[in-house]
Amino acid sequence: MTKTWKTKLIHPDAHAPEGFESLAPATYRGSTVLFPNATAVQDTWDQYAVGYTYGLYGTPTTLELAARICELENGYRTFITPGGQAAISLINFAFLKSGDHILIPESIYYPNRKFSVEVLQRFGTEVTFYQPTIGGQISSLFQKNTRLVWCESPGSISMEVQDIPAISDAAHKIGTLIILDNTWAAGVYFDAFAHGVDITMQALTKYVGGHSDFLLGSVTVRDEALYQKLGAAHQLLGFAASPDDCSLALRGLKTLAVRLAAIEKSALTLAQWLAARPEIELVLHPSLPSCPGHEFFKRDFTGATGVFSLVFKKQFTKDQVQAFVNNLKLFKIGYSWAGVTSLAVAYDFGPRPGRPAYDHRIVRLNIGLEDTSDLQFDLAQSIAKL
Ligand SMILES: Cc1ncc(COP(=O)(O)O)c(C=O)c1O
Repeated sequence: MTKTWKTKLIHPDAHAPEGFESLAPATYRGSTVLFPNATAVQDTWDQYAVGYTYGLYGTPTTLELAARICELENGYRTFITPGGQAAISLINFAFLKSGDHILIPESIYYPNRKFSVEVLQRFGTEVTFYQPTIGGQISSLFQKNTRLVWCESPGSISMEVQDIPAISDAAHKIGTLIILDNTWAAGVYFDAFAHGVDITMQALTKYVGGHSDFLLGSVTVRDEALYQKLGAAHQLLGFAASPDDCSLALRGLKTLAVRLAAIEKSALTLAQWLAARPEIELVLHPSLPSCPGHEFFKRDFTGATGVFSLVFKKQFTKDQVQAFVNNLKLFKIGYSWAGVTSLAVAYDFGPRPGRPAYDHRIVRLNIGLEDTSDLQFDLAQSIAKL
């Protein structure tokens, strides 16, 4: 048929040559997905079962990232979400209802805790917080309606490594699901499914991205039944992830191993150096015996990443600890760790019951890719000013 130039804007006859092959995965954007005929039209989220139906459930770029994360975590299937916090809320919305009870460690990422208090409790789900070092004793907290046990290992800021096999053995005896925030281990240094976890989530924002320039999350499941439940919730919550961000995550994956190797070495060197400083009471790095749960780290993990905390001795005031952070030159102050830039954030556990008694003396460091001796010099010059 003949077309005016206006129609050709939408339906061109001009096409680029075919046969392009590249090392970079293509970035497919798209909301509308075309069906071959009228009877093929359907709004089914499970694109593995029926083919592509709608951009909300992922373009090939999104599903490529999902497949790659799933392969690395040895899971059954993975969903990509717009951020790590969305991965957390997706899991909770998919599995919980009014009248259920869940267990959350005191060391959980704070917005995860806040979600349970401010959203789940509002919808009638009961929440109990437990000490992350509880191990198999967790069974003493189980109720008839306990549906999920959240774990995060090591925990946020206080860094307790959890005895996941003991917790999962106890939970599976009463048919309760174990969920793990596997972000610190980047999904590669802790084989969650081999240790009894049912569902993992990661903030891909962190090590997978690795450059502090996007937000994405993942949820990985161990079997088809969990996949079906999560897929239905993912569709209704509308957690679409940007294919452009997914392509950045796919790029990040290519350098994950070398970034992690450099970061692990540098972080451990700095943690050991800090542990020997007279101003420091405690270094909370899972590779050091001073970290609660170090024995589980040695037993269950195959490597360490670059986030750890230090606790100043009791004589240091809040102002001094904050001055230590402010006087750092290379370490920047900011959330969202795991990028190439080193970061420092001071916390105050004083107003947080259930957290260890470190009060205002705890500082979390993210070690980036700067030269280790420059970072050590920076820490030393700031400590010297205390
Ligand atoms: C352990 C952990 N889980 C989840 C998240 C949430 O990820 P996002 O920032 O992508 O929402 C974070 C972010 O800091 C985190 O530290």
